[in-house]
Amino acid sequence: MGLTSPRKFAKSDPIVMAAKISSETASPLGGAESAAATAPVSAPGQTSQPAATAAPATAPLVFRPGLEGVPATQSAICDIDGSRGVLTYRGYPVNQLASHSTFLETAYLLIWGELPTIFQLRDFEQEVQMHRRVSFRIRDMMKCFPASGHPMDALQASAASLGLFYSRRALYDPQYITEAVVRLIAKIPTMVAAFQLIRKGQDPIQPRDDLAYSANFLYMLTEREPDPLAARIFDACLILHAEHSLNASTFSARVTASTLTDPYAVVASAVGTLAGPLHGGANEDVLDMLDEIGSVDQVEAWLDRAIAEKRKIMGFGHREYRVKDPRAVILQGLAEDLFLRFGHDSMYDVARRLEAVAAERLGPKGIFPNVDFYSGLVYRKLGIPRDLFTPIFAIARTAGWLAHWREQLGANRIYRPTQIYTGSLERPWLPLEGRPTPS
Ligand SMILES: CC(C)(COP(=O)(O)OP(=O)(O)OC[C@H]1O[C@@H](n2cnc3c(N)ncnc32)[C@H](O)[C@@H]1OP(=O)(O)O)[C@@H](O)C(=O)NCCC(=O)NCCS
Repeated sequence: MGLTSPRKFAKSDPIVMAAKISSETASPLGGAESAAATAPVSAPGQTSQPAATAAPATAPLVFRPGLEGVPATQSAICDIDGSRGVLTYRGYPVNQLASHSTFLETAYLLIWGELPTIFQLRDFEQEVQMHRRVSFRIRDMMKCFPASGHPMDALQASAASLGLFYSRRALYDPQYITEAVVRLIAKIPTMVAAFQLIRKGQDPIQPRDDLAYSANFLYMLTEREPDPLAARIFDACLILHAEHSLNASTFSARVTASTLTDPYAVVASAVGTLAGPLHGGANEDVLDMLDEIGSVDQVEAWLDRAIAEKRKIMGFGHREYRVKDPRAVILQGLAEDLFLRFGHDSMYDVARRLEAVAAERLGPKGIFPNVDFYSGLVYRKLGIPRDLFTPIFAIARTAGWLAHWREQLGANRIYRPTQIYTGSLERPWLPLEGRPTPS
């Protein structure tokens, strides 16, 4: 697993010390919870010891900001080797899937664990095709959204609204699980495309049954049948974004799933998490950053200034990778294929120069381009508006979220981590007139 270099905490580390003091004095936590926080985790397949008896009762709580290096689940869906730059879905390298598979086949693999047979794939594709349409009530609801609203907010609200329409919650029933998977994979793209047309003041258009998944999405978005190469490249982009182990939005999905709520709430919570600029929102920011740099000759000075100002370089860095993200390598190739066919983009020259200069400045810290660095350039060439980049990420990642939803249901325990309390010691309530005036 790619939990390669968790930050090491020395005994004198203030975070550990604070935990110690806290657990010895003010913390309301008992010894059993303290022990659970630091108990060793067994490898997949091993039975873990009950945490409360495995660690000494006096063990300090160790706070790891961002849960870095802390295993929060066991999963057989996806593996990242962050030092070699290898990403596999259910054991299959993502570059092979991007070259040979389709998004729907990859989604099937992620969710059900094996590549489908020809009949299973045909059935899945047909089911998804049949469920692409969304209720007129959802389209009418979307017409009430402000046109200036971000499409991720529109998608989160629309995804959550599916729970109103398909409210039966039968998590023990495989048929219910399959139907929910099909509905979400089928309807999320339709809702993204619908909001795009609605905010332009147009009526959404219906899906076309003769078009495959990605070609149909591009058609619903642009009202034009896409070039086959463009559709194929877009489909490969969806494959590359479909899953990435326990990232922030997938963690959200699993936490929500662990309460045994419905799958629409699971996906809606994950969409909300994906929207942030440190996660899915970074691909929009990359193009804004390249705009700001302006031209190849400005790159070096811009980067030095940004580093001096301690700015984050968007599209660079990753908790798991210490080399260039394998998805960035593939996306760069796809971008070049698009430029060859549809014309060059000078923003790509700025990006390549930034990658080269950043390799000298940030490379020694293990900071290299991530998936978001080149994906925006691909979408830009496909004529997709910037604020739809993250909703498109969500279309793809729905497959991964649903795979984790199924896996979570298979061995569920509600998520309820602990905390290190840093607030006041117990104190008596003060009447209004006795309260000190804030300075
Ligand atoms: C992805 C990301 C959130 C990972 O964060 P993280 O694992 O918590 O890493 P940190 O933010 O703690 O960074 C660790 C160090 O690397 C530096 N660093 C990380 N990403 C950086 C970036 N994009 N540009 C400049 N410095 C960066 C930090 O400043 C920090 O340096 P320090 O130790 O000297 O203080 C982070 O790299 C980032 O914000 N990247 C830009 C946003 C982005 O592209 N997100 C998409 C991710 S797919």
